[in-house]
Amino acid sequence: MDDRHGHRHDHGPTIARGVGTPHPSGHPRIGIIGAGRVGTALGVALSRAGWPVVAVASRDVARRANFARLIPAARPFSEAPAVLDEADLVLLTVPDDAVAAVTAKLRLYGGQALVHTSGLLPASVLEPALAAGARGGAFHPLVAFADLERAVASLVGATVAVDAEPPLLGVLGEMAEAIGAQPVRIGGGGRAAYHAAAMLAAGGFVGLLHAIAEVGRGAGLDEAGSLAIYAPLIRQSLANAESLGIDAALTGPVVRGDEQTIRAHLDALRRLAPGALRLYRAAAAREVEIAVARGALDAAGGARLQAILLEGQGGTEPA
Ligand SMILES: NC(=O)c1ccc[n+]([C@@H]2O[C@H](COP(=O)([O-])OP(=O)(O)OC[C@H]3O[C@@H](n4cnc5c(N)ncnc54)[C@H](OP(=O)(O)O)[C@@H]3O)[C@@H](O)[C@H]2O)c1
Repeated sequence: MDDRHGHRHDHGPTIARGVGTPHPSGHPRIGIIGAGRVGTALGVALSRAGWPVVAVASRDVARRANFARLIPAARPFSEAPAVLDEADLVLLTVPDDAVAAVTAKLRLYGGQALVHTSGLLPASVLEPALAAGARGGAFHPLVAFADLERAVASLVGATVAVDAEPPLLGVLGEMAEAIGAQPVRIGGGGRAAYHAAAMLAAGGFVGLLHAIAEVGRGAGLDEAGSLAIYAPLIRQSLANAESLGIDAALTGPVVRGDEQTIRAHLDALRRLAPGALRLYRAAAAREVEIAVARGALDAAGGARLQAILLEGQGGTEPA
């Protein structure tokens, strides 16, 4: 498996011992604990890719029935430990906060693997369930799992952060590639930062859009109007960042050192969109740092702009 940085990962032998003779497909038998959004979508995607999804555990009868309808070959169970008698590789797709509690109820056989799908937790949280020769791993698809078919389609081309030791690492890489995704290895200490960056890219970006729409209302635009006007600018900035680099993509009044323009913006926001002031200030302060580092602003000009951005704080306006 080559990740997108060109690093080569050690495959080693695939997990074949598991619970009995190897599956004729050559892939490990997959069991899923937690038939929620991620468990169901991964089950469907893997099954369509020809990986044998043989068992599912869900405490909820309706979710079990839904999973059985989607993947008739999977045996449904109400208790998580029952999946261990069927599968070589068990995907633990329960909420992050439930991973430790469910893990405590499981005891894997040698040759089996237990893999959670949390972006935050390290693979080591699974250790209490691992007998000698069993392995723990993490498989986190960078996809917003909302609607089933949309999620399955979004897995194609998505990044999956995998973490495990070989040979499981190689199996997880193959599993990601089987569903059309690109595996990258993000280990222990880096996982929280990786997940935080993902949150900024998804929810954080939506927060920025929300502020843009609020400021747009000050100009008489409704939400659709703001999206129609500013989305092309956003796409242009993203394309510039992708082709030129992030620092070089910065344009606008901060990089020009237009102090009066920034003052006018702050004044307009105080009157028309005070709820967006804090985000405007934070974003502009970050822009000043980029502009100074890029040499577009000298240190004194940068300091003047940072001082302007702080003006008025501590008074009655939102911090
Ligand atoms: N949603 C996303 O976009 C996304 C993206 C990437 C990764 N993830 C990760 O994937 C994992 C699952 O997320 P999800 O969005 O699929 O969650 P979800 O839709 O809430 O589904 C969670 C499943 O786990 C079961 N479950 C919940 N609490 C449990 C407990 N205490 N003990 C045993 N089972 C329990 C649920 O109940 P039943 O047993 O009753 O079925 C359900 O089937 C999380 O680690 C999450 O961080 C999520």
